[in-house]
Amino acid sequence: MCGIVGYIGQREAAPILMDGLDKLSYRGYDSAGIAVIDGTNKINVRKAKGKLENLVNLLETSPITGCVGIGHTRWATHGEPSDINAHPHTDVKGGIAVVHNGIIENHESLRNFLTAEGAVFISQTDTEVIAHLLNHLYKGNMKQALLRAISMLEGSYALGVVCDEEPGVLYCARNDSPLVIGEKDGECFAASDIPALLSHTRDVIFLKDKEIARLDKSGISVYDAYGTPCQHPLFHVDWDISSAEKGGYAHYMLKEIHEQPEALQKTYAPRRSQNPGDYAWLPISPEDARNLRKISIVACGTAYHAGIVGKYAIERLARLPVEAEIASEYRYRDPIIGENELFIAVSQSGETADTLAALREAKRRGARVMAVCNVVGSTIAREVGDANTLYTYAGPEIAVASTKAYMTQAEVMLLLAIALGDMRGTLPRERVDALLEELVTLPKKAEEVLKTEEHLQRFASTASQKKHVFFVGRGLDYALSMEAALKLKEVSYIFSEAYAAGELKHGPIALLQPGRLVVATITQPSLLDKTLSNLREVTARGARVVAICRESLQDKVRDSVEEIIAIPDADDLFAPLLAVIPLQLFAYCMAVARGCDVDKPRNLAKSVTVE
Ligand code: M6R
Repeated sequence: MCGIVGYIGQREAAPILMDGLDKLSYRGYDSAGIAVIDGTNKINVRKAKGKLENLVNLLETSPITGCVGIGHTRWATHGEPSDINAHPHTDVKGGIAVVHNGIIENHESLRNFLTAEGAVFISQTDTEVIAHLLNHLYKGNMKQALLRAISMLEGSYALGVVCDEEPGVLYCARNDSPLVIGEKDGECFAASDIPALLSHTRDVIFLKDKEIARLDKSGISVYDAYGTPCQHPLFHVDWDISSAEKGGYAHYMLKEIHEQPEALQKTYAPRRSQNPGDYAWLPISPEDARNLRKISIVACGTAYHAGIVGKYAIERLARLPVEAEIASEYRYRDPIIGENELFIAVSQSGETADTLAALREAKRRGARVMAVCNVVGSTIAREVGDANTLYTYAGPEIAVASTKAYMTQAEVMLLLAIALGDMRGTLPRERVDALLEELVTLPKKAEEVLKTEEHLQRFASTASQKKHVFFVGRGLDYALSMEAALKLKEVSYIFSEAYAAGELKHGPIALLQPGRLVVATITQPSLLDKTLSNLREVTARGARVVAICRESLQDKVRDSVEEIIAIPDADDLFAPLLAVIPLQLFAYCMAVARGCDVDKPRNLAKSVTVE
């Protein structure tokens, strides 16, 4: 989703802003722009629809200079992608420029009010009201104008503001949309995500909701909504910029698929204990675990699919009812959640607007809340608190299509299921020990599975022109199929759907005809016979079936499918984690074969910070 950058210092702002925008481009965008205050205190704006290259070309023919500026990559919400709708937006005189992430919900009433006051709007965006509003409120002190403005804005925003009457200052504000600021050696930086700051500083401050910040050559001052100064601890970023770079791979998605063995290992390592029954990493006591009556796992997209893995695993091992639900549905359906129930938000970014809103809704209803999150310091992690956040250690995930985050979210779900099963006494100790033991071997097996890439490349070259692909499976394999279908559709634009294999007869089978491609996942021995009889129904209709299958089940599957991609044997609970790798590689290879922009699929954003 949109990206914000800001700079104040001694160097030329434009190249620094452009570099920051480039680092944020993975979030998805449709236009970009920068505003820089020049030596005569004039704000110059350059904006261009489309890729950042267009803005680079514009700046070559029409450069802007100055040491203070803001920049933005836009992902359209109000108004089509165009030069005019791109940020920064200015007031009528061009003396105030604003970049904004989020949605101003009361923009229409503000627009009417400001128009009546003489403002002339030129874009269709909600953001433009902020520039006119600041102009209306400005009485010689931008800090005061910004505080007044945020008391009038409804909705979500991360803001960067520059003003020609305060040419040495950059202002920022946030509400429900992330904003990070940092300073080093007389320079200050602002951005909506850490990668844009990392080449300048590793010590950053996360602004809190309704706070504003004033950045100038003497440093950073943060104020709450009443203008009272606040102190924030510096957060030290300990991961390297190289982990947010491609490192020789053709795409981030491929690199991140290959990072999964390491991500699995890193996520388990801090939770591995020599003492049986030691779950110090889990903020739930054995007594609380025994008293739990229900768990709600709420998330969006891929994180939701990891939640479904959690549902199957926790119900199976801990004999506890689990609801896995899409956050955008949960937040508005008047959910029932009460005493002895646990709400778990799952989110890679920790910034997804719907997941955050569902979490707040659950909290408001008095639920006990936890999070599974990849980004330390993100809004969801902070609202739940570090003690209640089960971090995944996947490292920065840059590709829009989530892969290693899913893997580690599913791993944490399985760990949670084992821990709860142990604490509730529903899982015999020998089984707990065996599972935890096997978890150690998973990264090695995941490395083995990565070798299927060549096979999948060959397969994709014969299948990439398919218009539809169906993914089928039963139990945990169905949960996996949902993730496989999402992955394929988002990166290759092929229409793909997941069906529980047993459901085919109830409608979807009408779509099967000669030449259709069906990808079956087969990792659950107890469901093998049922799945095979479903697949025979599929092949009888002339469809082509390829199976991702556990080595030990291959012989039984061979006659019912056209092609097998084998994965090493593992416990029924862990085999799906291995099986997801060929499914991710399949989506990747199909997208590459079709010439798609794998890392930045059309219309998608990495972090969906608006509803
Ligand atoms: O950051 P989150 O995990 O909360 O994001 C949730 C979804 O937006 C995300 O998983 C999305 O579905 C990905 N594009 C999937 O690859």
